[in-house]
Amino acid sequence: MPETTAGGSPEGASQSGETTAEAAKPSLASKLRKAFQTSPSQKDAVKTRRRFVGIFTGGFLLTNFLMFLRFFFPRTIFEPKRMFRVGTPTDYGIGVDTKFQKAQRIWVVRSTDRLFVIYARCTHLGCTPDWKESESKFKCPCHGSGYDPEGINYEGPAPRPMDRAKVELDAEGQIVVDTSVLFKEEKGKTTQFNDAGAYIVV
Ligand code: FES
Repeated sequence: MPETTAGGSPEGASQSGETTAEAAKPSLASKLRKAFQTSPSQKDAVKTRRRFVGIFTGGFLLTNFLMFLRFFFPRTIFEPKRMFRVGTPTDYGIGVDTKFQKAQRIWVVRSTDRLFVIYARCTHLGCTPDWKESESKFKCPCHGSGYDPEGINYEGPAPRPMDRAKVELDAEGQIVVDTSVLFKEEKGKTTQFNDAGAYIVV
């Protein structure tokens, strides 16, 4: 009679036990799959990371692009025009006129026989003095230099009078000022204040 394992021979039982244990063992493929599998929360983290990297890269590229564009728009300092009109001599009475101080950094001064333009820059260190009508003088707020109504220094550290800008009358009788041409005076030494272009006869 043929031998059967049914009935639970000890040999058969051990064989079937091994097979079950082997089957229960995860294969290499399933191990790898498991290792590379991502949970939903991990997926979210990856998405967030990707978004962050995307924003960062986009920002970086945009910044570089804007910097590149900047080359086509060079930095320019817009200074006031150096040559401009300030009206006719009859627009000015005797004394100091301050209406162009802010826009053009000048004062128009008219005496009994001359009209000239003082460039509003202290000859000490370059501050802009103030015209003190009540004291009839220019006073520098930086270190206290004082100038008379013609811009001649008489107190403080300023070494010389304030410069005068070139003035001339155009064909229409308008006063044209050019602050790129300045006339200077070294106190007690030389003066350019009587040179042609330093004043207009009125
Ligand atoms: S800058 Fe005017 S007194 Fe010094």
